[in-house]
Amino acid sequence: MKTVHTIKELRDHVHQQRMAGKRIGFVPTMGNLHAGHITLVTAGLKQCDVMVSSVFVNPTQFGPGEDFDKYPRTLEADAAQLQAAGCNLLFAPSVDEMYPGDQDQWAKVVVTEITERHCGAARPGHFDGVSTVVTKLFNIVKPDVALFGKKDFQQLAVIKRMTTALCFDIDVIGIDTVREANGLAMSSRNGYLSVDEKERGAALYQCLCSAKERIQNGERDYDSLSQQAHATLSAAGFEPEYFNVCRADTLAPATAGDKDLVILAAARMGKARLIDNIDFRLQD
Ligand code: PAF
Repeated sequence: MKTVHTIKELRDHVHQQRMAGKRIGFVPTMGNLHAGHITLVTAGLKQCDVMVSSVFVNPTQFGPGEDFDKYPRTLEADAAQLQAAGCNLLFAPSVDEMYPGDQDQWAKVVVTEITERHCGAARPGHFDGVSTVVTKLFNIVKPDVALFGKKDFQQLAVIKRMTTALCFDIDVIGIDTVREANGLAMSSRNGYLSVDEKERGAALYQCLCSAKERIQNGERDYDSLSQQAHATLSAAGFEPEYFNVCRADTLAPATAGDKDLVILAAARMGKARLIDNIDFRLQD
């Protein structure tokens, strides 16, 4: 696997592969990789000839007071994992390479509506930062296929919407969440949890599973379901942020007649803000 740090080098390498008729897959990341990221690369290799991954801790998607400065930078270990997974090319640019010049010369990509609730409400500007950097990365790599984890369900929905709205000729594919043995969704931020918090963190997914079961058994009062989930999560040591039953396509609040659903949840445990979700279809 080759590692490059500049846009020009990346473009030169990908261009050669494209000219040779290769199908290019892309997995953007912020590094500190875990099995969830590696699954994306493995899934990409099943349908692409060449896999490109990026490691870039994107400053524009962090708000004031968030963890940009202390976000783990582990490039060497990340490169080793990507190489072992069969990734062909790693793009690891600096902040100046991605955002040159003064801030007043930058542009930003704003996806409307679907960004406004859930994490978008809790982290103002976060999805503008994600859409902007993913647009830049899409324009740099020009992949045929891009793979994202379903753990960040709203991010995946935003990127799908952006890809359609801005006419990127890229297949955006969501890949199932990889979990620890106790059900906790793998995340680069799980490193902020103590061993005990990792054990207790499993309650978030348990709460999602039991809400799904109740809905499958006929519960349709989604507000009350959400309130009960908040109480359960608080009792388990979380500070719940949201627990929302939504339509899986628009992420708007679900109504009793909706069939394709996703429950989106975010809660703080110690120093970590955890997000998770569960999507399912109700039978007609
Ligand atoms: O999911 C992430 O790691 C980031 O939000 C992404 C998509 C790499 C953009 O910085």
